[in-house]
Amino acid sequence: MSVERTLVLVKPDGVARGLTGTILARVEAKGYKLVQLKLVDATRELLERHYEEHIGKPFYEPLVEFMLSGPTAAAVFEGQRVIEGFRSLAGTTEPTLAAPGTIRGDFGRDWGLKVQQNLVHGSDSPESAAREIGIWFG
Ligand code: TYD
Ligand code: MG
Repeated sequence: MSVERTLVLVKPDGVARGLTGTILARVEAKGYKLVQLKLVDATRELLERHYEEHIGKPFYEPLVEFMLSGPTAAAVFEGQRVIEGFRSLAGTTEPTLAAPGTIRGDFGRDWGLKVQQNLVHGSDSPESAAREIGIWFG
């Protein structure tokens, strides 16, 4: 198994709640290496590229509006199987259902039909990771 890189986003809810350091510390504590980090005021154009696969779905527009609501912390982490490993640390998409011990399970909850406020994003495949790192870090 080769060393991979993945894009990790602390979404605007995580940044606004002051959880950026806590979340990134968990990823570092697991042993993954932080190789890039910045705070970004995402534009609609950037988000359209990032969430390309979701265009047209009912949750797409609320998701983009939420991602425009404040800064996002964008990071690249490196390590053996880090793509799968970070998604395991993050927990399942819906915070209510995410297992305790995961980022979404420990810090997220249902804020009222706002699944998009689930604190983090992690790439889901090597192809997505390469594409998303290019979008956020050019
Ligand atoms: P998705 O890529 O399916 O989830 P994940 O972030 O776990 O890879 O969806 C992207 C984001 O869209 C997700 O983090 C939250 C939001 N979303 C909704 O608001 N409603 C939904 O029904 C789904 C599937 C996702
Ligand atoms: Mg996804």
